[in-house]
Amino acid sequence: MDTPKKVMLSGIQPSGDLHLGNYLGAIKNWVERTEQFDNYYFMADMHTITVRQVPADLRRRTLEQLAQYIACGLDPEKNTLFIQSHVPAHAQLGWVLNCYTMFGELSRMTQFKDKSARNADNINGGLFTYPSLMAADILLYQPDYVPVGEDQKQHVELTRNVAQRFNHVYGDVFKIPEPYIPKAGARIMCLTNPENKMSKSNPDGCVFLMEKPEDIMRKFKRAVTDCDTERCVRYDREAKPGVSNLMQIYSAVTGKSLEEIEREFEGKGYGAFKPAVGEAVVETLRPIREEATRILSDKAYLEQVYRAGAEKASYIAGKTLRKVYKKVGFVAP
Ligand code: TYM
Repeated sequence: MDTPKKVMLSGIQPSGDLHLGNYLGAIKNWVERTEQFDNYYFMADMHTITVRQVPADLRRRTLEQLAQYIACGLDPEKNTLFIQSHVPAHAQLGWVLNCYTMFGELSRMTQFKDKSARNADNINGGLFTYPSLMAADILLYQPDYVPVGEDQKQHVELTRNVAQRFNHVYGDVFKIPEPYIPKAGARIMCLTNPENKMSKSNPDGCVFLMEKPEDIMRKFKRAVTDCDTERCVRYDREAKPGVSNLMQIYSAVTGKSLEEIEREFEGKGYGAFKPAVGEAVVETLRPIREEATRILSDKAYLEQVYRAGAEKASYIAGKTLRKVYKKVGFVAP
């Protein structure tokens, strides 16, 4: 008998359009491992309302994100693709895990500190307890790996702590998952300010998957490089953060190593390097953009994908939830 495949799970918030950081830090890694694992990927719509959303935009972006997942290469036949709010077990386990997550732990989360600084007029309970819901998202599916970018590692580590705490009291209920971080692309930085990570909150320094080629080229040509005197393409995250970030991006999209890139641009200045990175990104994103546009026009297909995804996800999640409810002492309905 075949041994069952290991399980991978991850999600992205549809709070903005998908960008190159999401693609290189997360989705590309998911696609490359489709055959190897049993895969669950979702639109984390419940997480987005920790910050105020325009309802119609959230609905539109959730479906666009699904179309983009598929266009990036996530075949719905081989990956369970679903919308978080369609599987009530997330909220249900989220509540239970809230009661096993400590105030001190939640207070240390970088994403909470960043987001509460940016939304000082709306520091709500959901923003604070967000990591307990994320722990539920993960633990419901008993995954082996959670493929995320560097910035989400802290949340996966908290998930491990919560799972271990729960298991310590009730026996082996949850599998303890590992974060799975790519070698190239785990932390893509902003093109205009390479000290910060690329994020939709700074659109000038952020390349979106659906952006037009000419706009992408313009952003790369204007990318901040470093004001050192040598002006050569050399990897040094400390001294040359701008060039090093562009090298990371080029490496992630072409598969070339950092040494190969240094050799390729030896004797050439930033003027040759920046458009070369832009072109490589344009060519990577072109088929994704075209395919996503095509898929998005087929609403019936998208509906069929997310319904089938929710059905499969609910089945798996329900099994874990029933076990948890029994362990904590809830009467079976
Ligand atoms: P989110 O929606 O902010 O980001 C989604 C994924 O993209 C990665 N990422 C990046 N990687 C490299 N460079 C960047 N500049 C960059 N920006 C974003 C993130 O690391 C992430 O992998 N809490 C999560 C969503 C979530 C989740 C989950 C993830 C909810 N439940 C369960 C995994 C498992 C978040 O806010 O990611």
